[in-house]
Amino acid sequence: MSEPGSDDVSAIKQQAKAVTQAPVPENRGNPWQVDAAVVTEIRDETPGVATFQFAWVDKNVTSRVAAQPGQFNMLYMPGLGEVAISVSDSQIRADQVVHTIREVGNVTGAMFRLAVGDTIGVRGPFGSAWPLDHCVGHDVVLVCGGIGLAPMRTLVNELIRCRDQYGELNLLIGARTPLDLLYQSEYPQWNSRGINVHTTVDRATATWSGNIGVVILLLERLKLRDPAQTLLMTCGPEVMMKYTIQTAISRGLTYDHIWLSLERNMNCAVGTCGHCQFGPHFLCKDGPVLRFDQVQALMEVTDL
Ligand SMILES: Cc1cc2nc3c(=O)[nH]c(=O)nc-3n(C[C@H](O)[C@H](O)[C@H](O)COP(=O)(O)OP(=O)(O)OC[C@H]3O[C@@H](n4cnc5c(N)ncnc54)[C@H](O)[C@@H]3O)c2cc1C
Ligand code: FES
Repeated sequence: MSEPGSDDVSAIKQQAKAVTQAPVPENRGNPWQVDAAVVTEIRDETPGVATFQFAWVDKNVTSRVAAQPGQFNMLYMPGLGEVAISVSDSQIRADQVVHTIREVGNVTGAMFRLAVGDTIGVRGPFGSAWPLDHCVGHDVVLVCGGIGLAPMRTLVNELIRCRDQYGELNLLIGARTPLDLLYQSEYPQWNSRGINVHTTVDRATATWSGNIGVVILLLERLKLRDPAQTLLMTCGPEVMMKYTIQTAISRGLTYDHIWLSLERNMNCAVGTCGHCQFGPHFLCKDGPVLRFDQVQALMEVTDL
């Protein structure tokens, strides 16, 4: 993608004044409050990825911290640090919170040494949510790669809960290998409840008879009834999202019908430290879910 010209720069300045692109729910109390949560269940998902269920130690925490699909919490491992992790199930009991975590470094590595009964700290929820209201009456395509399905699973479950309100729903999932397909046991249920699940892998195994190739190929082949009225939401590696968006636009989707979830290192999560700055946006506050037309010029900038 090309470097920005002066038109792009003025577009970026305009974006600084733009209204919020995705809903930022007012569901947070004191953002600095760290609540203790005890591990109640750990489920291995795919190699290096596990889902952790936590219960609040203080039962009064429940209503204050109900998260919307797409939002994230800051999970605190004492002595090591805090990491941003999306809520991966928003339909659990009010006294619980669920996160699917990939082990990549110091803090997430320590989380993989947790056992049932151990306690961590949780701050949140933070950030914008997937625009469920906009989906009403529309066909919706969800495109995700790898761990990107974790924040999208909450959206899938919400779409299923009010299935009648939406048009055709397609979920396109890409993974490195069949073993890396997250939440596989849930796909039959999603299919039977009105979400067409399509999967593809980069590398097949001997028993795999499904699609092989990048997830963009699924989007290229997907039948769209009315592209101009179709919404697309995407989450995964940034390069995957860029090509997904390019493909969506080439298929006739409009810029203001595309949302993406962007990740940057988070520190404060309340828009004060600047760690997550993305042009005029703070991704902890204005994101992580953003509408494409309002970050388009920034996504074409390789190095700000
Ligand atoms: C809004 C948001 C939601 C997120 N949701 C999830 C989630 O649901 N599940 C999940 O597993 N992770 C999620 N992440 C990513 C997670 O925050 C990082 O993996 C985590 O901060 C790494 O911390 P660490 O101390 O274990 O690794 P570090 O020691 O900090 O880093 C280890 C290695 O991982 C790389 N790394 C660090 N952060 C990221 C990142 N964000 N993306 C890619 N590589 C990274 C580093 O460059 C380094 O090479 C999310 C991030 C954001 C911003
Ligand atoms: S993490 Fe501090 S401004 Fe976003």
